[in-house]
Amino acid sequence: MISTTVNGKRENIDADADMPLLWAIREKLGLTGTKFGCGVAQCGACTVHVDGQPVRSCVTPVSAVSGRRVTTIEGLDPKADHPLQRAWVELQVPQCGYCQSGQIMSAAALLTRTANPTDSDIDDAMAGNICRCGTYQRLRAAIHKAAAIKRGGGR
Ligand code: FES
Ligand code: FES
Repeated sequence: MISTTVNGKRENIDADADMPLLWAIREKLGLTGTKFGCGVAQCGACTVHVDGQPVRSCVTPVSAVSGRRVTTIEGLDPKADHPLQRAWVELQVPQCGYCQSGQIMSAAALLTRTANPTDSDIDDAMAGNICRCGTYQRLRAAIHKAAAIKRGGGR
């Protein structure tokens, strides 16, 4: 049994210690916003936060989050109204959508540590998140917009 906190709620997850966190989140907790892409830490679709840091949940054993705080896309904002989510809607970033929760979680970690990221900061932070639909230009624009919203600069 793994005791952890997921999206602010204490959870006791009945799983083998080496079960990937991604499966625990999706199969044990029913939080299916986090996606499986490659399974080998190469695409970023499975990105969640552990104690505020972005991690690839497909290669993180659930035992590694014992006693720690996990945040998934469902817990990023209680009303799904995080500045990134607002910017994503406004700029219509997603195409198929599959990669987007991982993109948003990586971007959220970036905005936590860098209030006004440059293009180069964004490219560095987002390099591990692949989008097969090629939404990269809109992703970058939306991160700039979200950063402005977060800083209070609005639109
Ligand atoms: S599914 Fe985890 S990085 Fe691709
Ligand atoms: S929106 Fe389709 S993979 Fe990114």
